[in-house]
Amino acid sequence: MAVAAPRTGWPDALDIGPAGGLRLDGVDLAGLAADRGTPLWAVSRSTVESNFDRLLAAFRARYANLEIAYSIKAHNTLAVMRVLHARGARIDASAEFEVGMALAAGVPAGDIILNGNGKSDAALEQAARLGMRQVNVDSLDEAGRLQAIAARLGTRVRCLVRVQLTYAELLANDPAFEITLRIGEGKFGNNVGTGQAMATIESVVRAPSLEFMGLSHHVGFSGYMGDYTPERELGHHRDATRELASFANEASRRFDVPIRRLDLGGGFRTGGQVLLSTPGAGADVAFHPVPTAEQYADAVFGTLEAELDAARPGAADGERPLVQFETGGWQIADAVVLLARVAEVKDVGAAGAPPRRRYVVIDGSMMMFVARGMMRVGFPVVLVDRPTVEVAPVPVEVVGQTCVYDSVAEDIHLPPVARGDVVALLHQGAYCETESTQFNGFPRPEVVLLDRGRTIVVKRRETLADVGGRDILPADL
Ligand SMILES: Cc1ncc(COP(=O)(O)O)c(C=O)c1O
Repeated sequence: MAVAAPRTGWPDALDIGPAGGLRLDGVDLAGLAADRGTPLWAVSRSTVESNFDRLLAAFRARYANLEIAYSIKAHNTLAVMRVLHARGARIDASAEFEVGMALAAGVPAGDIILNGNGKSDAALEQAARLGMRQVNVDSLDEAGRLQAIAARLGTRVRCLVRVQLTYAELLANDPAFEITLRIGEGKFGNNVGTGQAMATIESVVRAPSLEFMGLSHHVGFSGYMGDYTPERELGHHRDATRELASFANEASRRFDVPIRRLDLGGGFRTGGQVLLSTPGAGADVAFHPVPTAEQYADAVFGTLEAELDAARPGAADGERPLVQFETGGWQIADAVVLLARVAEVKDVGAAGAPPRRRYVVIDGSMMMFVARGMMRVGFPVVLVDRPTVEVAPVPVEVVGQTCVYDSVAEDIHLPPVARGDVVALLHQGAYCETESTQFNGFPRPEVVLLDRGRTIVVKRRETLADVGGRDILPADL
């Protein structure tokens, strides 16, 4: 059973106000729930900004020629994109729909990276027309289609070739990564092992309307099971970076082209800890520490610098490639809380005996963080008006109201709660709002940005018209 120590995983912006209630960015959360209704996602502006600043500072301290893009799939509220872009972040977009969102946020095309597999011709044409920062080319076929489109438009497109590594060293160090690899190895990027990657690089290098800039790769966050350790995760970044850099050197020599950009993807998490259990097992639920920005920097740049210098002995910093990251979870994971109100409390167990388990039904739902829920990635749950009160000994299951497996938090401890109480689910930033659904007809919550005591509505609450508005009921049916 997961017992969170008081304040486990709290971002700096989360504190207790003078009246004893929970505050985020200076905003009293009980008052916020009363004013704006629940469920509600509240984004801490100061946390988003400080997360980004911390990673940038730690990475730039190790390697000067560096930029970080915000991967908007993690949380795509336009206001958050604008806040991060104003801070110096580029934007990483998967497919034309996310490009459209970034443009709507006011981000210039030159700051938007187009990523993703199976890109449509429309997406490629948009990138070529707008002069986007780069296209991370996912296949040989895509390189051919992009060349034809760019030639037709009379333009040149900056390209990185996305590679899927062999992970030989990573797998030797961590054979269990094979399970994760199965999901992604054939789906994304150009496979290094089969020779696809070299073939696509050659095609881009020789394409007159494409400008070969370098390589991209994303190993991803590995915290999806109870066997997560920060050492394993750092090892993944270290081994993948070494293989990518050495492959980049090989490609550079083979085609006699410089590597001007290396995009090392994302996969970092903030919040200091992550609550995990193994899907289907569940008994191993526990908080695990996640690496710091400096530890991530050591893992990546220790190997990267050695590889780059081996390829070009004596190269000055200015001659090294621009190193890029596309991180989502890092900026946003612990910057968002989901406020939900208790709708009902039900105890189960034998008559006359202390309850075996207590079900706390809330107006929030696992449908607000579907993928994380399926993977059993948990989060601390805090009562907003009694954040540090001693917990009751009865194991609590927090559940939503939808008619499927809707376990919000399993086997946790909470102080005694009653209908009307408000809970804050922490770490609701990464892959929550963007993966939420309207199952059972529940409209999706409002998103507010909290900014030094101010509350700014940045995404309105859905209405029933939003949920059913796409339906067409033929008159003659
Ligand atoms: C290609 C690519 N880049 C970046 C990211 C962002 O990952 P994270 O939010 O873990 O930083 C993802 C996430 O799936 C991705 O697929």
